[in-house]
Amino acid sequence: MSLQRMLKLLYALVLCVSANEDFDWTKNERGSFYYGTFPTGFSWGAGGSAYQTEGAWDKDGKGMSIWDVFAHKKGKIFLNDTADHSCEGYYKFKDDITLMKDMKFNHYRFSISWPRIFPNGIKADHINEKGIKYYDDLINMLLDNNITPIVTLYHWDLPQVLHEKYGGWQNASMVNYFNDFANLCFERFGDRVKYWITFNNPWSSAVEGYETGEHAPGLKLKGTGAYKAAHHIIKAHAKVWHTYDTQWRSKQKGLVGISLLADWGEPVDITNQRDIEAAERYVQFYMGWFATPIFNGDYPQVMKDYIGRKSAQQGLGTSRLPVFSSQEKTYIKGTCDFLGIGHFTTRYITQKNYPSGRGNSYFTDRDLVELVDPRWPDPGSEWLYSVPWGFRRLLNFVKTQYGNPMIYVTENGVSEKVQRCTDLCDEWRMQYFKDYINEMLKALKDGVNVKGYTAWSLLDKFEWDEGFSERFGLFYVDFLNKNKPRYPKASVQYYKRIISSNGFPNQREVESWRRKATETCSSSNQLLAAGQYRRPQDHQTQTPPDPNTDRPQH
Ligand code: NOJ
Repeated sequence: MSLQRMLKLLYALVLCVSANEDFDWTKNERGSFYYGTFPTGFSWGAGGSAYQTEGAWDKDGKGMSIWDVFAHKKGKIFLNDTADHSCEGYYKFKDDITLMKDMKFNHYRFSISWPRIFPNGIKADHINEKGIKYYDDLINMLLDNNITPIVTLYHWDLPQVLHEKYGGWQNASMVNYFNDFANLCFERFGDRVKYWITFNNPWSSAVEGYETGEHAPGLKLKGTGAYKAAHHIIKAHAKVWHTYDTQWRSKQKGLVGISLLADWGEPVDITNQRDIEAAERYVQFYMGWFATPIFNGDYPQVMKDYIGRKSAQQGLGTSRLPVFSSQEKTYIKGTCDFLGIGHFTTRYITQKNYPSGRGNSYFTDRDLVELVDPRWPDPGSEWLYSVPWGFRRLLNFVKTQYGNPMIYVTENGVSEKVQRCTDLCDEWRMQYFKDYINEMLKALKDGVNVKGYTAWSLLDKFEWDEGFSERFGLFYVDFLNKNKPRYPKASVQYYKRIISSNGFPNQREVESWRRKATETCSSSNQLLAAGQYRRPQDHQTQTPPDPNTDRPQH
């Protein structure tokens, strides 16, 4: 079918869906706005991660991670960029905390770089005290400013040595190595850190790291690699939770959770049972893959059925989806004190059969197709359409599937493409935050147990295989200036008002926020223009990075 015909068909399908009423637990119309505030004590913040922001990739005894090595290979990252320097967060964290303080953040989410602490991945080898000191200083300064640290132990930067020696997450030995690393973090930082996230978005580590190869370590083990990696990651998560539970909890009184990326899947035709099932399958293969073992003790039944059946059709003796023993199931079930949710976008889903054969992959195992409504705004990343109502549906799904767990939204936000980067007046981001946060407020009214919200991200930063071309920051970072100055976008002012009002008090006030934020950003735009800023086009013509030289910029 031609692309044009497909788009037309999609458009027709979508129109037919929009004509339908919202389904049950969505009590307001999709477009309606709910004025109201969040419960007292609701926690507001923003986040970032080690590899994306710290820079100092080879400083003070840090070892290499799989991302350092991957990004230095030609052709893996847009414009061959690396995060060698990125935002230089390693040196500028004090300035960043000042920004957070001004916005009156309750929390800040960051990750600890495993190879900055264990340069060779392994405790017995070497503990890098300089790395520990960096995180000590960061944590202490956050606490001095009344900002609660929410700390991720694994945001994708596996020590390279562990990849080379054992094959990384393909190997079961990672479970114990990761546990040693986590245990040291509890020992050294746990007197002050009370919110721990074991893994950030393990879906990406598994699928993009070991199935499609778009992310480090870049392996393309179609149909098996992602399932194996995820299996070890889930076991590692459970082990670390038990370590905390038995050795540290009574002394430190903290919480250990996991952060799962979860896009929402909406049936293309909500009256068609096959579409309804396909949409549920989409969510189960995404978030459910990790959440169901952790909350309910085993992989979603639909994953076991689909992957099992397709493996048998391929003539394999066992399923490509690994199996948990009954002991493991009991050990894994219930290992989550809170659930971190990273949510950005939604897809329409329809059923499609992929006959099994040699081309089996995680994607074809699901027997579905993802579609989008061409009218959905998509200001930045190609995959990121703004569909606020999907957020409320997802949060309600979590509530019913996993017994209403305590939820922290650990990532939510929108990017802009590099072409627009001179504009600090980020209208589309204000709109995105306003609408998504409002849907979260509606979900709270539905009874979903959301305790906090983390805007993604504090700063523009290295966006993995997209390099620096997609900017998610509340603050614009001038990467071409070696001091990496930060400039507030309009959304800083806007988000600040949401925080200080703890929600959306009334229509008149909320409507004035956008105007006020836009006034401030125009003067910031002038500041930026007056500085050393070079146009993004200049960036495109730079020579690609040479992995053997220490580049003065990024
Ligand atoms: C999820 C990842 O955890 C984060 O690192 C990334 O910046 C966002 N997705 C946006 O792509």
